Parts: sequence; C-alpha cells; structure tokens
Amino acid sequence: MVSNISGAAQPSTGTPNGKDMDVTQEYEREFGSKPACISRAPGRVNLIGEHVDYNDGPVLPAAIDREVNIASGVNPNNLVRLFALDLDEKVTFGLDRLNVKVDIDGSPLPAWALYPAGVAWSLMEAGLEVKGLNACFTSNVPIGAGLSSSAAIEVGFGVTWQALAGWDIKPLELAQICQRAENEYVGLSCGLMDQFASACGVENHALYFDTRSLEYQPAPLPKGVNIIIADSGVRRSLTTSAYNERRASCEKAVELLREYLPDIGSLRDVSPVEFAAYKEFLPEIERMRAEHIVKEIARVQSALSALRRSDDLAFGALMYSSHASLRDLYEVSTPELDILVELTRDLPGCLGARLTGAGFGGCTVNLVRQENSVEFMEKLECGYQERTGREARVYLCY
Ligand code: GLA
Repeated sequence: MVSNISGAAQPSTGTPNGKDMDVTQEYEREFGSKPACISRAPGRVNLIGEHVDYNDGPVLPAAIDREVNIASGVNPNNLVRLFALDLDEKVTFGLDRLNVKVDIDGSPLPAWALYPAGVAWSLMEAGLEVKGLNACFTSNVPIGAGLSSSAAIEVGFGVTWQALAGWDIKPLELAQICQRAENEYVGLSCGLMDQFASACGVENHALYFDTRSLEYQPAPLPKGVNIIIADSGVRRSLTTSAYNERRASCEKAVELLREYLPDIGSLRDVSPVEFAAYKEFLPEIERMRAEHIVKEIARVQSALSALRRSDDLAFGALMYSSHASLRDLYEVSTPELDILVELTRDLPGCLGARLTGAGFGGCTVNLVRQENSVEFMEKLECGYQERTGREARVYLCY
C-alpha cells in the first residue's frame, strides 16, 4: 500500500477523484440531489515530538494522503443528517440540541457522530454560522492507529461548514476550533498538533510547529530516504482516560516544580539541566512523565537542526531515543510497538523508528534509506508475524 505526504484539508472544486466519486454517488442516492460541496481532510504522521503539544512544545508532523472525504449540501430544516459510509450507519440530529448530545429521537449520539456534532458546537461557540447539513462521508485513515483519524473527521467537517456558510477563517483558527470540539465536546484533552497538521499540511513537507507561539514552517523531508508507517494492528481501549492522566501528571509536575522555578508556565520552560537539578523533588510518576517531556522537546529542536543539515543518521537516532522514552518514561507503548521498533535494528538501511501519535497501540514511523525500503517492508512484516502471530500493515508514505 502506498500513501503520500499530503497537502492541507480543503473543499475540492476540480474534477472529483475516485474517492470523491463514491461519496458523490452515495450522496445522490441518499439525498436525491447533487452535493453542493466535496471536502477532504488528511490524517498525519508525527516524525518526532510526542505528547509535547499540550506542554507548549514543538512538534514535527506531516499530513499523509490517507483522508476523509465528505460530500455535502445544506439541510433546509436546520438538521444534520449524516451517513457514515464505512460503518453503514446514519444519524440525524438538530443544531438546536447540540448541548445534550442526542439524536432527533432523543437517543445518545453514536460515538462517531460526536466529532462532527462537536465541531458544529465549537463553531457556534466561536460565533460562526453553522448551516443544517446533509452529508455522506468515508475515511481511509485507520481508526485508533495514531494517524489522527478523529482530527481528519473534525477538520473535514469544519472545512465543509466553512464552504457551505461562506465565512473565511485561517486554517490554524479552524484547527483550534476543532481542538476545542475534541477537548470540550468529545472529552479528550488533546493538544493542537493533529488538527493543525490536517488543516495546515504542506505537500511533501513536514511542518515544524511551535505549539506555544503557534508559528510554523514547512520543513523539507530528507532526501534519499523514505518514511514508512507500520501499523501493529493493536488498539488499546481506555486510551482517553490514560491520555488525560498523562496530561494531568504533566500539569502536576509543573505545579510542584514551581516551588523551585517560580517563573515556569509549562514544562516547555524547564531546560534539561534545570530538570536534572530539581527532579528529585517530584514523585516518581510525575518525574518520569516530566523527564520524557523535557527531553523530547530538546530532541525536536535537535531533529530540526538535523533535518536542516541533512543529517539523517542523527535524525534517526533521535527517533530511537524518543521511542525508548515513550516506552520507559511516558509508558504509552505496547509490546507490539516495541517489537516493531526492535525488529528494525537488524534491518539494513533503517535509520530510525518510533511509535507515532498518542501510543497505546497503533503505528510506528520509520526512516529508511530508499534503496532498502522494499526489503525493509517485507522483512518487517515477516518478522512481526513470526514474533507476534499478527499481521502488520506497512505503508510507504514518502
Ligand atoms: C494525540 C493527540 C495529540 C498529541 C498526540 C501525542 O494524537 O491528539 O494532540 O498529544 O496524541 O503526541
């Protein structure tokens, strides 16, 4: 399977591609007219900088060409009628009852519908017009795999409502509105990275995004190497509570460290040297979580310099240390992700590998010399099957 580093989410105006055709046909069948708008929004892979986006840290994601496609039109009755083609499920809810999260019959909204409903809610909170909507949508971003399937849905619907109502806001602002939907409506205290990457992605580039200043710049991907994604096929439940717990531990660490470093606003303000000086005053869990964050932020800075001087070896080494830290200090890896990373140590041409996204299952991202990529993909799949009895899905991404 091939996937590419993709551009940002957008309404499509040109000839629909294959995927658009599907949603268009389904829309016509379901709603009896042609869609007024077709939109797309990509998933993302994060090259380095994990769990730092809610600690004001910098991240280095890239949008991929796995995406959500939505065909839509205005619903004149102020209702939202959604058809999730992949799940073969439909729901209808009123825009006047978003707060109670129920469908038109008063039943709780299905989990998948919370994302578009949350975006409608958040757009309204931001004072933007949200029109009634008819939509059919499909996604080929694997769910729960660390490739931002939820952010792609959110941004996809954000772009759709924007196109239908005709207001104009910056992609970054749309990303923030979508993040608020996820934080306050869906209930995951995520940072801004995923919605940002989906809304602001640049084709064939990673994005260096400073989640404190909100400044970003495209970073060219290394030459002569491929980015390969390996999906462990494992999805762990309770991700939301484990994720929110991690964030709470970071906040607690900041509170405790303030006794010694009164000016810090977040772990971004703690240097590795300061952390070494004061870490003994933290309880074990907070110490481990904070150590990951402080050092991961430093790793992203080093990774950006490595990219700029085309030092793939250094970039790869930083990926391996990021993984070890996510495994041992942040404790968000799984045995299967660890095996995927370990296997790469013996594969020729692999410069670095790490879990990508929140963890708790999902995918690894690998940096591999182009001439070794095909062999790498085959051997990784075989090795994983031998060690775990499971099938890994391996995508060439760039
Ligand atoms: C999830 C969240 C992001 C980020 C990553 C971990 O994908 O949505 O905000 O925190 O986990 O880096």
